Amino acid sequence: MTLTATRVKQTKRTSPFRSRQPTQFGQSNRNRSRFESFPAPPLPDPNRTVHRHRHPWCPTTARTHVNSVASPLPASPAAPSAASPALSPDTSLPASAGVFAELDGHEQVVFCADEASGLRAIIAIHSTALGPALGGTRFYPYADEGAALTDVLHLAKGMSYKAALAGLDLGGGKAVIIGDPATMKSEALLRAYGRFVQSLRGRYLTACDVGTYSEDMDVIARECDFVTGRTVEHGGAGDSSVLTAYGVFQGMRAAAEVVWGEPSLAGRTVGVAGVGKVGHHLVEHLLEDGADVVVTDVSAAAVRRVLDAHPEVRAVPTTEDLVAEQIDVYAPCALGNALTDDVVAVLRARVVCGAANNQLAHDGVEKLLADAGVLYAPDYCVNAGGLIQVADELVGFDFARARKRAAGIYDTTREVFRIAEREDVPPSVAADRIAERRMATIGRRDLWLPVR
Ligand SMILES: NC(=O)c1ccc[n+]([C@@H]2O[C@H](COP(=O)([O-])OP(=O)(O)OC[C@H]3O[C@@H](n4cnc5c(N)ncnc54)[C@H](O)[C@@H]3O)[C@@H](O)[C@H]2O)c1
Repeated sequence: MTLTATRVKQTKRTSPFRSRQPTQFGQSNRNRSRFESFPAPPLPDPNRTVHRHRHPWCPTTARTHVNSVASPLPASPAAPSAASPALSPDTSLPASAGVFAELDGHEQVVFCADEASGLRAIIAIHSTALGPALGGTRFYPYADEGAALTDVLHLAKGMSYKAALAGLDLGGGKAVIIGDPATMKSEALLRAYGRFVQSLRGRYLTACDVGTYSEDMDVIARECDFVTGRTVEHGGAGDSSVLTAYGVFQGMRAAAEVVWGEPSLAGRTVGVAGVGKVGHHLVEHLLEDGADVVVTDVSAAAVRRVLDAHPEVRAVPTTEDLVAEQIDVYAPCALGNALTDDVVAVLRARVVCGAANNQLAHDGVEKLLADAGVLYAPDYCVNAGGLIQVADELVGFDFARARKRAAGIYDTTREVFRIAEREDVPPSVAADRIAERRMATIGRRDLWLPVR
């Protein structure tokens, strides 16, 4: 069973953000959108009929939508004739009504079910303004379908922004498979899923995410041409954490240049929380650059692996210990929500730059960081190296080419800091603005479709 809902949209936003003016960005703003209070410079006029409404699940954006189009949903049996006013463009239709409000701002959402294998998946395409939508497949035991839908919509939107900021000709999408991968994952299920991805004919390109691995992409690729992040043996780019770590290092160099005048970590002390796939590669870049490194991880084995390879690295028992250390840079490379009010209160670093997604526990944390004199390098800006790596696989993976592109994260991060300074906004707002401007100014105005 598939149910697809498609809409074409444009984005538009209002709101300035004056990070250095506490009255505009203090405690009282904590629960408000960081975009709500601070108008952005105008984007190009979409010159189309639009509805405007707030985005319900991501409070950071006021969105403007073109009337829904091209919906392949079956017509209601009671649908009036074409001459009926109900079928003419109805700009008075409440934007918050019905399923389209749930899918807010996304071009297309596809629900996929395969009874034989037990597959239940949702594919969300947020935007194809810049090209086909790329994003991984998360295999996770969601509590219910609503939680799965919320997650996939949020993740897909994040991918649009990440690809746009990274300068890729790709849109944003994501997929979730509902269930416990430990018990549900099977060849039959992955191949059924691959057929659904194939049915979109390249509008959505899948890759690894939580609960899926390169080996799974190899299986999906047996049914589907639109897969990346496969194993090296199958012509893929392999482990994306290699260039993710490299990109984080480049972002950190850009931050070091702003704070200390030199794009180098030599002589600085960097604390890395989480030395898994990305963290341990990052440690190697830092040591090579002449930094002192302190690490922590809840996994003793992960710490052991780093210390065995690099005895000069120091380990501390917990992340709480790490942030309270006299470090110059804090690199969260474990889970999201690493930056809380409590962390900022004790943090002694001048820079935060790490791989973990969604580091800010709430929007107000960035203001707290700024007030404490800490420069925050936005997570989705500096951790785009993995996306760059799997995107390169789409044109025949060339590690040197992908690495060169990931090195560009240094320039992108500098640009984010430059716009933040010029427009007097926090770096994460500057990053969003750059991504939105790119989607609005060079993105297409209609759906991306495969060549016929
Ligand atoms: N792998 C990629 O290419 C990639 C790309 C973009 C973003 N990221 C993000 O970077 C982060 C790290 O990814 P990864 O691939 O290295 O994952 P990973 O699972 O290999 O490593 C995460 C490490 O963090 C540790 N950890 C978990 N909870 C912790 C805690 N409370 N304190 C300290 N350590 C803790 C784990 O033991 C593990 O060693 C994740 O947030 C991921 O979403 C990864």
